[in-house]
Amino acid sequence: MKSTRKALPNLSAAFCALALAACAGSGAGGSRAVATLKPTQGNKASGTVTFVQNGSEVRVTAEIAGLSPGPHGFHVHEKGDCSAADGTSAGGHFNPSGKAHGHPEHGDHHAGDLPMLVADASGVARLSAASSALAVGAGEGNVVGRSVIVHAGVDDFKSQPAGNSGPRVACGVIAAG
Ligand code: CU
Ligand code: ZN
Repeated sequence: MKSTRKALPNLSAAFCALALAACAGSGAGGSRAVATLKPTQGNKASGTVTFVQNGSEVRVTAEIAGLSPGPHGFHVHEKGDCSAADGTSAGGHFNPSGKAHGHPEHGDHHAGDLPMLVADASGVARLSAASSALAVGAGEGNVVGRSVIVHAGVDDFKSQPAGNSGPRVACGVIAAG
């Protein structure tokens, strides 16, 4: 019993060291960018979206609260400008390669098209997705200086130019770091 209790702090110390090594590793190898999303006028959605370059892909990790339960359109938009009360200052979907709007995992799509956020009963959505169309810090798909938008409704991944996912409920400019 005594030795088990002693082992626990040692184990967690080892865990921290591992986590630190992982952090240092990603800092040296890949770039990272973050958007802090704030609600547009009349809405409550807010949260954080992180982009980490991982080889030829970008890992997108999101945690957004204050949503209505269910699916929400979720995209990288062209302009890093959330100044308009309704978020329209962010412009259209980030589309450096001139494609049509669509599902990010099959067929043509904008580089900025991401899988939908799905909020649980308490209005919280978590997402982790990989994108080979986006990049962090350099290249055509560079997300730094763009923005992230969360929409009120469902992205049908079909309607042009933006999937008909309704008003913009949250907006955040993507900054390096
Ligand atoms: Cu959008
Ligand atoms: Zn799109």
